[in-house]
Amino acid sequence: MKMRNQSHCIKVLILCILAAGSTHAQLQLGFYTKSCPKAEQIIANFVHEHIRNAPSLAAPLIRMHFHDCFVRGCDGSVLLNSTSKQAEKDAPPNLTVRGFDFIDRVKSLVEAECPGVVSCADILALSARDSVAATGGPYWKVPTGRRDGVISNLVEARSQIPAPFHNITVLQKLFQDQGLDLKDLVLLSGAHTIGISLCTSFSNRLYNFTGKGDQDPSLDSEYAKNLKTFKCKNINDNTTIVEMDPGSRKTFDLSYYNQVSKRRGLFESDAALLNNAVTKSLVTQLLQGSIENFYAEFAKSIEKMGKIKVKTGSEGEIRKQCAFVNS
Ligand code: HEM
Ligand SMILES: *[C@@H]1O[C@H](CO)[C@@H](O)[C@H](O)[C@H]1NC(C)=O
Ligand SMILES: *[C@@H]1O[C@H](CO)[C@@H](O)[C@H](O)[C@H]1NC(C)=O
Ligand SMILES: *[C@@H]1O[C@H](CO)[C@@H](O)[C@H](O)[C@H]1NC(C)=O
Ligand SMILES: *[C@@H]1O[C@H](CO)[C@@H](O)[C@H](O)[C@H]1NC(C)=O
Ligand SMILES: *[C@@H]1O[C@H](CO)[C@@H](O)[C@H](O)[C@H]1NC(C)=O
Repeated sequence: MKMRNQSHCIKVLILCILAAGSTHAQLQLGFYTKSCPKAEQIIANFVHEHIRNAPSLAAPLIRMHFHDCFVRGCDGSVLLNSTSKQAEKDAPPNLTVRGFDFIDRVKSLVEAECPGVVSCADILALSARDSVAATGGPYWKVPTGRRDGVISNLVEARSQIPAPFHNITVLQKLFQDQGLDLKDLVLLSGAHTIGISLCTSFSNRLYNFTGKGDQDPSLDSEYAKNLKTFKCKNINDNTTIVEMDPGSRKTFDLSYYNQVSKRRGLFESDAALLNNAVTKSLVTQLLQGSIENFYAEFAKSIEKMGKIKVKTGSEGEIRKQCAFVNS
């Protein structure tokens, strides 16, 4: 009896030590409350001021936050200018580029208030949230304390960021690699309810799906005809932009899922949500539910995304300029 108790005690002790050893700083709500009390307000004010005149900026900002988190964790690496000429963020035409300048401006305001305190990764996470909320979309919690990474790797970005031509198996794997499940995939894809795409991101579906000059049979043929006639007039059109949720791209609503369920999702990756029993059923459930439910579920998934492999404590650095690592 005594022996058993003793060994139990030792086991508990070991567990405690293991737990303490693996504990490292975590994100927390209001991380800058003491070190830069006005930071979050400065960001929110700037976003609210500018989104009114440029509501379409919410889309590139939330997309940038997603790309940031999927490569080396949410560490602001997406914001770094590559030294190579093939820099991902510099590659035109790139719709996302619209957001970089915005983040740089927010950063300089925050730096003026508290130099070297607030990370670019947090500024991006907060700006994405605030800009979506400012357009009447969902609101989610953004615990802060992320530190900035010092490496931006184009090759990693290419392999970890989902592509529009990926099928459900590949999408599931890429999300799983980030600790996200099929439900997160469905909800986060819902961000395609806002924003635009270049024809080149999907024109193979219209003109040359399998290399035989054919069309993707999983795309509604009526819709495909429309796109070919009025939008993407040939497979190489790299300038025309198309709304991903036509007629409703300014509102963060359920109509993206409606498009998907009608086989009018723009990308194969959107259409893919119908190719798995779990994701298909989630699409149906979302469409049957309320917008409040969608917002609440979306918030849970994007909060999860915002925590992917974050650097905290003394890891990484607080960049002075978001486009460059500190020298
Ligand atoms: C599931 C895998 C995903 C794929 C394959 C994908 C792919 C794409 C592509 C190809 C574009 C058009 C880019 C262009 O033509 O320049 C786009 C736009 C966009 N994506 Fe995704 N995406 C995915 C998930 C997400 C997630 C998780 C979010 C955010 C939570 C997101 C938010 C957006 C937004 C807002 C736009 C519009 C950007 C703008 O208007 O500037 N996407 N996506
Ligand atoms: C635009 O930049 C984003 C973010 O760095 C990148 O993921 C995407 O592939 C680029 N798109 C194009 C068309 O170059
Ligand atoms: C960094 O990248 C941004 C966005 O692509 C670009 O506007 C800016 O000129 C670049 N800065 C430098 C110093 O190369
Ligand atoms: C767009 O397409 C034109 C004609 O095919 C080509 O000359 C140009 O380099 C392309 N631009 C980009 C940025 O890919
Ligand atoms: C999905 O795409 C991957 C990579 O291209 C391929 O290996 C796999 O067979 C595809 N899966 C399905 C179900 O089509
Ligand atoms: C379609 O793709 C095939 C294989 O990549 C290519 O040989 C052919 O020229 C393409 N056709 C058109 C119309 O682009």
